[in-house]
Amino acid sequence: MHPDVQEILISEEEIAGKVRELAAGISEDYRGKSVLMVGIIKGAVIFLSDLIRYIEVPVNIDFMAVSSYGKVSKSSGVVKILKDLDQSIENRNVIVVEDIVDTGLTLKYMLENLTTRKPASLKTCTLLDKPSRRKVKVVPDYNGFTIPDKFVVGYGLDYAENYRNLREICVLKPEVYTKG
Ligand code: IMP
Ligand code: MG
Repeated sequence: MHPDVQEILISEEEIAGKVRELAAGISEDYRGKSVLMVGIIKGAVIFLSDLIRYIEVPVNIDFMAVSSYGKVSKSSGVVKILKDLDQSIENRNVIVVEDIVDTGLTLKYMLENLTTRKPASLKTCTLLDKPSRRKVKVVPDYNGFTIPDKFVVGYGLDYAENYRNLREICVLKPEVYTKG
């Protein structure tokens, strides 16, 4: 275990099992169609990479990078697009892939924005859901794990850009946050 980790919340094996389960559900729901998976970078990159390898319908991928504008926007839900999609999503079956849905502001913005681009369908898939922190109503169509109100890292999720490479979903030791 990494020395900064206090607790492993979800093991590598549990994640792998869940990824296959989600992929099986998506393959079933989109049978006879193709799907465009839109990953929100950077956090969703590892999840998306694992997920698509178990999806059995034709898959394309694209990425968006977003950030919320400072403090005010954290409550208002104003999100800035840092990197937009490379391609049109008109008439495509789109699934937005997130690492975690927390307040829901990011996902809600993504859905509103992508809806204006007229996809054939638009769904959301997240590895983790923290419903206790929700500020706006948004329910992911596919969810791996519902977790308690704890800050987690690993499997793509970061604290100050670190720990994305951990293979498990972990809670950090409190002293990590005070080290500066
Ligand atoms: P939301 O807009 O509040 O739903 O936030 C979503 C984004 O906040 C996620 O895509 C993550 O980048 C980040 N985030 C929320 N909770 C956590 C966490 O526990 N660990 C790491 N990142 C988090
Ligand atoms: Mg993210």
